[in-house]
Amino acid sequence: MQITVDLSRLLSELETLASFSDAPAPAVTRVVFSPQDLAARAYLRKLFSEAALDLRTDAVGNTFARWTGADPSLAPVATGSHTDAVPHAGQYDGTVGVLGGLEAIHALQRSGFRPRRSIELLVFTSEEPTRFGIGCLGSRMLSGTLSPENARLLKDGEGKSLEEILRQAALDGSLDVGSLENVRLAKDYYHAFVELHIEQGPLLERKGIPVGIVTAIAAPAALRVTIEGAGGHAGAVLMPGRHDAFLAAAEIALAVEAAAKATRSVDSVATTGVCNVFPGGVNSIPSRAVLEIDVRDIDLARRDGMLGAIRSACETVAAKRQVRVEVELINADEPAQASPLITEALTRSSRALGIESMPMVSRAYHDSLFMSRIAPTGMLFIPCRDGVSHRPDEYAAPEDIKRGVQVLASALAQLAQ
Ligand code: HGY
Ligand code: MN
Ligand code: MN
Repeated sequence: MQITVDLSRLLSELETLASFSDAPAPAVTRVVFSPQDLAARAYLRKLFSEAALDLRTDAVGNTFARWTGADPSLAPVATGSHTDAVPHAGQYDGTVGVLGGLEAIHALQRSGFRPRRSIELLVFTSEEPTRFGIGCLGSRMLSGTLSPENARLLKDGEGKSLEEILRQAALDGSLDVGSLENVRLAKDYYHAFVELHIEQGPLLERKGIPVGIVTAIAAPAALRVTIEGAGGHAGAVLMPGRHDAFLAAAEIALAVEAAAKATRSVDSVATTGVCNVFPGGVNSIPSRAVLEIDVRDIDLARRDGMLGAIRSACETVAAKRQVRVEVELINADEPAQASPLITEALTRSSRALGIESMPMVSRAYHDSLFMSRIAPTGMLFIPCRDGVSHRPDEYAAPEDIKRGVQVLASALAQLAQ
């Protein structure tokens, strides 16, 4: 089977998708269910319709585009990723897996291949935690990891509930008005799930290897820490009597860094990515600070050890500075192991195409982390320049994107037979 990728079309689609952004190019900001995200969804639905794929969306906005196989009664093979983007991101995170997945289907159709199992392309809702504080909202619901009841409790930074936001998006035609109870898919609804994604790290580029075959996905966790201090007038309150919420937050943020370094494992990472200070006036002592903390490791015990160290640091700072500290666990997920069904198909595909590959761990999380709860799942990575991601200078070379799509197409063909 000759798999030819229409690279110029794929690159132009990636450029068009990147134009749906709330940040000036080359940055991309596309927060879930923002007007730019809704416009991007409409653009993707147009591409999927033009490809004569059977389209459906679920009540949380996951989008499914199916190439029906010769035997529609068989569990389909799925591929896909996300198209929402963190603030000031690049244009390749997630989108390569969606538009690359579409091009893989086009390439198989052009080759005359006819799948026995249907092949379904997925676009997951809200892989990024930007709006609701939790990542992988769509794939968590598909896999039953997040219940409809708990999803209904989610609110965005303006206090809008998920359901209110979904109702508005439905008015835009971006999702059906079905019930959140119908989002969850049965285990083994899919025969296999494969996700193409940029590595978001430097290994492939450093080793000069064009394809990474993911063996495991690190275990992510997130905390929200709220610190209540005394606040007050910046000129009138003398230093000894202060209970400055931001300084307590600063000590906690440094303890987060210390917790990751203390494990002495390169696989332990912890980040305080959000720090909101109230009331936010230069002449007001911060009365409240809210931190959002991201903690990951490929080893669950080490990851949980860091969470424990951070919690005890919060207690120490609270006592020392006489502030109130509340620690809320947003999520603490298990790591995922890739299925041999997928890693072997990807390895065979790379070899048959004469493309060198290497096994590797994913330090970023992906929707595959949750799809692995309900289907044999795997991922393939392509290099990104200097390993940079979640930044406007994120870049994947056209030839690398092409190779990723070729390997994906070949693996989908194997799995769909
Ligand atoms: O944070 C992550 O690992 C992913 O990019 N959302
Ligand atoms: Mn991302
Ligand atoms: Mn991603």
